[in-house]
Amino acid sequence: MTRILTGDTPTGRLHLGHFVGSLENRIALQHQHETFVLVANIHALTTRAADPAAIRRDTLEIVRDQLAAGIDPERATFVVQSEIPAIAELTILFAMLLPFSRVMRNPTLKAEIISKQLGDHYSFGFPLYAVGQCADILAFRADLVPVGEDQAAHIEMTREVARRFAQLYGDVFPVPEPLFGRVPRLPGLDGVEKMSKSRGNAIFLSDSADDIRKKVARITTGRQSPTDPGDPTNVLFEYARAFIRDEAHVRDLADRYARGDNLGDGEVKRQVAAAIDALVAPMRERRAQLTDARIVEILHEHTRRANAVAADTLAKAKDAMRLAF
Ligand code: TRP
Repeated sequence: MTRILTGDTPTGRLHLGHFVGSLENRIALQHQHETFVLVANIHALTTRAADPAAIRRDTLEIVRDQLAAGIDPERATFVVQSEIPAIAELTILFAMLLPFSRVMRNPTLKAEIISKQLGDHYSFGFPLYAVGQCADILAFRADLVPVGEDQAAHIEMTREVARRFAQLYGDVFPVPEPLFGRVPRLPGLDGVEKMSKSRGNAIFLSDSADDIRKKVARITTGRQSPTDPGDPTNVLFEYARAFIRDEAHVRDLADRYARGDNLGDGEVKRQVAAAIDALVAPMRERRAQLTDARIVEILHEHTRRANAVAADTLAKAKDAMRLAF
């Protein structure tokens, strides 16, 4: 059976970018494969060490979001990173296998230093988190990692660690493959940056029908009239293609839009907002049933399951490295 591990840093509620990038794949794959869903609450400390209460709240919230979206706690296992000591131990061991300069060349880290304006003020733990991500994946000996395209560099580094470990000490870890989502990079409402909470351009899985309508209405395309030829690759149509599931209908809309065949932005927005609401409405309902107490109960049980797997991997790794006495 293929083993899957993926996860998110708890920096806020999940949005549509998370859904099409990875969450949708997790929900589908949990039925055929052994699935682990990590909440990277230690990684959250790289930028929010001063706000532990917010990280704790977001950790519960991200689990709630995923249960509401269709992750089945009887099938998939949630992994709260801070509760799995084997991940921390593997992080140190893997840090020895990667040249420092290699870690610092990781393009995702470099992009984050710029986008989060970290300059040279980031913690030692900031670049270390990328090594930690290798440990997250390899601790569960995952074969497949469903992620958004922005995580590709981390998966590549994980593959290097797995190969290097095999060269030096023997075969303990599979070399994992990334699995990119149906929409690898969903733009935000601004149509420029990718969708993200920090840029204020996101539609959240927990948004109300009214929020969704208002947010979609905010999209600007620069088009003047329904009879102007429109650009069917603009944000609005990226959303239409991502969320209106009748492909023939979307093709027809795009044709009419491009020709200026009396199809206004307002009508496309109405259809896009309705499709998004149809996707998230059942999530809103399930979310309302999920108390914090129930979530904590699930996490306690899942932590036992996850630790059994990760501790076994660590024992194998230490054995291979002649570190076991
Ligand atoms: N870095 C990922 C993100 O911010 C979260 C993450 C941590 C992750 N560990 C992982 C994703 C392991 C996949 C596999 O989205």
